Amino acid sequence: MKGLRTVIEQDAEIAVNQRAAAGTYLMGLRSPEIAAEARPGQFVMIRMRQGMDPLLRRPFSICGVRDDLVFVLYRVVGRGTQILSDAREGDALAVLGPLGTGFRWSSKGCPFILVAGGMGMAPLLFLAGSMAAERYTFFAGFGSADQMVEPDALGVQGMGISIATDDGSAGHHGLVTELLENHLTGLTGNPGIVFACGPVPMLKAVAAITHRRNIPCQVSLEAAMACGLGACQGCAVRASSGQGRTYWHVCQDGPVFDVMGVDWGAL
Ligand SMILES: Cc1cc2nc3c(=O)[nH]c(=O)nc-3n(C[C@H](O)[C@H](O)[C@H](O)COP(=O)(O)OP(=O)(O)OC[C@H]3O[C@@H](n4cnc5c(N)ncnc54)[C@H](O)[C@@H]3O)c2cc1C
Ligand code: FES
Repeated sequence: MKGLRTVIEQDAEIAVNQRAAAGTYLMGLRSPEIAAEARPGQFVMIRMRQGMDPLLRRPFSICGVRDDLVFVLYRVVGRGTQILSDAREGDALAVLGPLGTGFRWSSKGCPFILVAGGMGMAPLLFLAGSMAAERYTFFAGFGSADQMVEPDALGVQGMGISIATDDGSAGHHGLVTELLENHLTGLTGNPGIVFACGPVPMLKAVAAITHRRNIPCQVSLEAAMACGLGACQGCAVRASSGQGRTYWHVCQDGPVFDVMGVDWGAL
């Protein structure tokens, strides 16, 4: 299906660029074409400002679409995201997308468990917004309460997310994977499918938990990216044995992978 994907490159007006939590911003870019094509788990590559400095576009998960707007939720971690946070509404940014292979699920059948760590919340918000609310249980972990992103503040209603924080300043005091473990321990019926996005140590823990309990799981991975289009090899991660190949390109084969398809020992 790769050849059939529609990828759009265009200058998109910044309709929204507002603070969502400590060091975290929500940006809405006006692109009816990308909004119409985007699926949960896909991402966009954004040039941080007009011109060639910084040279490389940066990848961001699509955290939702509304009308002709495509939303991304980003944390300021370096020069590029600092420039992005200073961008003004009404400016235009070059955007490429939607890119990558998103989450796979069926509209009928089993329940879903969503597990987010930090900015891993972004693709899972889009996924949850595409599912009936009664079908999923959503766990999200943050460092502390001031980093928590409230879906209501993003215009997403009624998600009922259970929170964990490292310092105990909100919700469960501890790791989001402990919420997952507790939930699974208390379950009697079919646990369904787990969808996860977050830092690699969190994803490794989710992989171990789901593997131990034989629960299907899809993870959204991050990797350094230059092109986002499968051309530069920059985003390669090792495939597990039996996949018929040694490496995956996170930008094209992912960012969403079946948990069993990734060599977790190499990450
Ligand atoms: C598919 C994909 C989806 C992503 N979605 C989101 C998202 O929804 N929201 C969001 O905030 N970020 C997301 N990221 C990460 C985002 O692309 C980086 O944070 C961004 O490129 C940093 O740019 P910078 O110029 O500010 O930082 P740089 O100057 O490039 O780096 C500054 C510091 O941040 C670290 N850093 C850079 N990239 C990452 C990364 N991917 N993970 C952890 N640390 C990193 C660097 O090691 C360095 O220490 C995603 C990445 C990928 C590959
Ligand atoms: S970012 Fe260039 S191949 Fe994936």
